[in-house]
Order: sequence, then C-alpha cells, then structure tokens
Amino acid sequence: MSQIQVHDKYFKPYIDENTLQERITAIAAQLSEDYKGKKPLFVAILNGSFMFAADLFKRMTIDVELCFIKLASYKGTKSTGNVITAIGMDTDIFSRDVIIIEDIVDTGKTLSEFLPQLEHQQPASLSIVSLLHKPDATVFPIDIKYLGFSIPNKFVVGYGLDYDGLGRNLPAIYQLA
Ligand code: IMP
Ligand code: MG
Repeated sequence: MSQIQVHDKYFKPYIDENTLQERITAIAAQLSEDYKGKKPLFVAILNGSFMFAADLFKRMTIDVELCFIKLASYKGTKSTGNVITAIGMDTDIFSRDVIIIEDIVDTGKTLSEFLPQLEHQQPASLSIVSLLHKPDATVFPIDIKYLGFSIPNKFVVGYGLDYDGLGRNLPAIYQLA
C-alpha cells in the first residue's frame, strides 16, 4: 500500500485489511458469546459504519437483527443547543438488547446527544461498538464497550469513513500524511 490522494489531501496506509478483519472477527466472537440467547439488535449509524456493520454482522454466530439509521443534527433553541434526530429508527427497542455500531468516536458529541434518546425508550441493555476511537479528542466521554482500535487524533479515511464524501470505498484505513 502506498500514499493516496483524496481531494486535496494525502493519506498514508494506517490499518491494513487483514488487521481490520482479524480484529472484527474477534469482536464478533466476543459479541456472539456475550449475547448468547439474547437476540440483540444492531443499530448501525450511517453512513460511516456501513462496511464495519456488514463485516461484523456476517461474523455473528447467534441470532441477531440489524437496522440502519441516520443521525441528523439541526440547530435547536439556545437552551437545547443542537438537536439530533434519528432517521429510520422504526424498530421498537423497548426491552431489546441494543448494540450501537459506530465507525468512529471522535469528540463523543454525536453519541452523547443520541444515547439519552435511546435510553428513554427503555431498552433492556444498550452498549456501543466502535471500530475506531480517538481518546485524545474526547470532549464528551463515551463508554465504548467493544472497541476495534484506539488511534491518535489524526484524520483518517477508508473502510466507510470519508473525507468530504470520498474515500469510503477503500478497504483499509488511511491516515492524513
Ligand atoms: P464525534 O461526534 O465528534 O464523536 O464524531 C462523530 C462523527 O464524526 C463520526 O461518526 C464520523 O462520521 C466523523 N469523524 C470523526 N473523526 C473522523 C475521521 O478521522 N475521519 C472521518 N470521519 C470522522
Ligand atoms: Mg459516523
């Protein structure tokens, strides 16, 4: 793998395909063990997590459901700040074991605003799986129960993650050079 260009920026190989797939296999095995007999519901957050969700999902060895949602942020009032709404959240999560699938947790803002909305619907349990986490970028701490890789606070693309719309199709993760 060598350096690539996306729009105006250059990226270098960071996590190769094999390393990604091995880690995902391990997470799927752990989830299959932890949720045995529970029929959990994966709620994958679009767009970034679609590739990770697919690879994780097909390695699950227990009964498991999957839905995709999109989070839209709009400006609320002064007191509410930004409001996040989930588009496509049409599965009832009451008393379900819900597993949120994210591509990356950066500042933690998105999930910190969205999780309380889900908790309000009283799932039996709620846990988070994220492929990547940038601990140094944390503003809102998020409890990521299942994590692929902890990475430095540098922009990455590939494997579902984009830079201004491009780069999602890359099968590996690339880091800003
Ligand atoms: P957060 O709300 O700051 O945790 O970040 C939420 C979203 O920002 C993620 O779900 C990604 O879609 C996007 N994001 C954060 N860091 C990166 C990155 O390095 N590359 C691509 N997208 C990113
Ligand atoms: Mg995302």
